[in-house]
Amino acid sequence: MFSQFDKKMMRRCFTLARKGRFKVRPNPMVGAVLVKNGRVIGEGYHRYFGGPHAEVEAFQNATEDPTGATLYCNLEPCCHANKKTPPCTPLVISKKVARVVVANIDPNPDVSGKGLQQMREAGIQVESGLLQEEGAELNRVFFLNMKENRPFITLKIARSLDGFISESRDKQTWLTSEKAIKFVHRLRAAHQAVLVGAGTVRADDPQLTVRMARGPQPLRVALSASLIFSDRAQIFTDRFRDKTLIITTQQADKEKIEQLLGKGVRVESAPDLTNGNINLRLLLEILWQKFKIGSLLVEGGQQIFTNFLNERLLDELILIETPVLLGQGLPAFDRLRGHFLQLKTIKKLGPDVAIIYRKKER
Ligand SMILES: NC(=O)c1ccc[n+]([C@@H]2O[C@H](COP(=O)([O-])OP(=O)(O)OC[C@H]3O[C@@H](n4cnc5c(N)ncnc54)[C@H](OP(=O)(O)O)[C@@H]3O)[C@@H](O)[C@H]2O)c1
Repeated sequence: MFSQFDKKMMRRCFTLARKGRFKVRPNPMVGAVLVKNGRVIGEGYHRYFGGPHAEVEAFQNATEDPTGATLYCNLEPCCHANKKTPPCTPLVISKKVARVVVANIDPNPDVSGKGLQQMREAGIQVESGLLQEEGAELNRVFFLNMKENRPFITLKIARSLDGFISESRDKQTWLTSEKAIKFVHRLRAAHQAVLVGAGTVRADDPQLTVRMARGPQPLRVALSASLIFSDRAQIFTDRFRDKTLIITTQQADKEKIEQLLGKGVRVESAPDLTNGNINLRLLLEILWQKFKIGSLLVEGGQQIFTNFLNERLLDELILIETPVLLGQGLPAFDRLRGHFLQLKTIKKLGPDVAIIYRKKER
């Protein structure tokens, strides 16, 4: 059904779409190419959140009249009006293109095939499913957001060969190489928020910033019921403190909350539903609904790793193994309930190895 030329054009859409990485989220990355008589006459991509869609850009950049052209777009053109930009299908129809080819149907329930239907009804030849697996991989965060109404969750664990994440609970242990640290900073930039438990803030005093890679600084989220922190913790005192969000329970000490707010840090109180602790699903709902966080990198420590895994709240697990045997220390998990994952890939990071697993679809 699809020619080699169609595939080439869709790959061009993916390349264009990737240019919007970091800037469009939590929207999807989308690229569009207009072809007439076997030649590209216009290209575009979604550049930033709230900005014009890829199709609009492709028509704006067209060097010829697009009547009778083919529009390639990795995601179904939108048809809904309850958003920042006008719907694209009326524009596509008005430009009198003859054919529209997409990789993926938009999983947004407001669109979900309706955009394609409108264009078919207007007499356009519409085809979908070209390189759809590559398209779904490119926008896997957006697809998950739409399907599950929560952020995409990546757990990143650095551990020794014998399974320890530090020498002891109250002590930070640098385990990984510079190459692995750079990889982690790239991971941070690729997520809209990073999350740690208060135990990690107390033991490690982490910065949770993007220093050894290029990319935006994610929101830094720390979970705590007690709000016991050092006044000098870096996430409260450095230049990104307005990007620190403490999530606590509604029973938390009001005076401590005031002190944190006085430092310029954000504080959110969630109803505590499970033994005085914040229910993690509710936490994700807050991050997604209130803070528009589409992707979350969970960075530890032991209690947080265990709770996320026991609740089966993960989409990707990145295990960074460093060739050291500590002999004793704090294991990555405590009383973990077992379940299967599937291996996606393995990356060599200098002396360390990152093993990337995906959630196993049931
Ligand atoms: N190698 C690695 O990848 C890595 C990464 C990070 C940390 N670490 C290590 O891990 C150790 C810290 O781990 P940890 O298990 O002691 O601490 P943790 O998991 O970082 O934090 C646990 C704390 O987080 C808060 N918390 C967790 N879940 C909560 C919930 N649902 N609701 C409210 N608050 C919640 C509680 O804080 P409050 O007590 O304040 O209420 C709890 O005591 C350190 O040794 C650190 O170096 C290793």
